[in-house]
Amino acid sequence: MEVLKVAHLSKAFGSLEVIRDISLSVSQGEVLAVIGPSGSGKSTLLRSITHLETVSGGSITVGGTDVVRDGLYAPPAELRKACLRMGLVFQNFNLFPHLSVLQNVTEAQLLVLKRGKAEAEARARELLAKMGLSDKERSYPCELSGGQQQRVSIARALALDPEILFFDEPTSALDPELTGEILKVIRALAAEKMTMVIVTHEILFARDVADRVVFMDGGVIVEEGLPADVIGAPKNERTKAFLSRITN
Ligand SMILES: Nc1ncnc2c1ncn2[C@@H]1O[C@H](COP(=O)(O)OP(=O)(O)OP(=O)(O)O)[C@@H](O)[C@H]1O
Ligand SMILES: [Mg+2]
Repeated sequence: MEVLKVAHLSKAFGSLEVIRDISLSVSQGEVLAVIGPSGSGKSTLLRSITHLETVSGGSITVGGTDVVRDGLYAPPAELRKACLRMGLVFQNFNLFPHLSVLQNVTEAQLLVLKRGKAEAEARARELLAKMGLSDKERSYPCELSGGQQQRVSIARALALDPEILFFDEPTSALDPELTGEILKVIRALAAEKMTMVIVTHEILFARDVADRVVFMDGGVIVEEGLPADVIGAPKNERTKAFLSRITN
């Protein structure tokens, strides 16, 4: 079953076309890695899909609900429903600094899903335990390491029970030793068959965890396929050049 379908998506900032005619789909339980050079449009693609940007054209369908169809957005109530199916984890964590760890993970459950406090806290504690953070629920984000903050932000995203989770370079703000702990969490989610789209510079990780890889350059998908093909034996010259640059 397709959880996400993107067709002929484009996004321009003024006259700058940042993504052009992007089509892709992600099935239930699948992990898609998106790689590509800086400025190729990876973040803009994720931000467009998750409705943090308004697209210029094309269609996005999430869990069978249209977010946008041929450039026309769904009515607000439907749009909201579709957006609730998607979770997003950012590079810089984006936790609420004035809220404790527990509050960071309960806030949207209370406000958006209208869960009761006891239920929201129970769900938050369950997820924090899973992230190895049970002893930190009263801490504030500034008291945590980058890796711990990122695990809180993953718990926060999971608390809304998304059908698909997007990561935008979840480890690039972290030291190498903290990167490992986040990659471990993502690996565990993949083993549980969480549907995920991961923008990453960690090519070996992408090769290892992804079911499929998309290579973007200049706002288009240049090459797409199995990790062993796209990363292991790229066909396109631009993919080859990118991979040899970052692995050397
Ligand atoms: N809000 C904006 N207004 C104008 N241009 C933007 C905006 N956001 C992104 N861009 C431009 O869009 C292009 C793609 O940016 P994007 O952030 O999507 O790239 P990226 O692939 O995520 O790069 P990186 O690997 O460095 O994160 C860049 O040329 C960038 O300058
Ligand atoms: Mg980016």
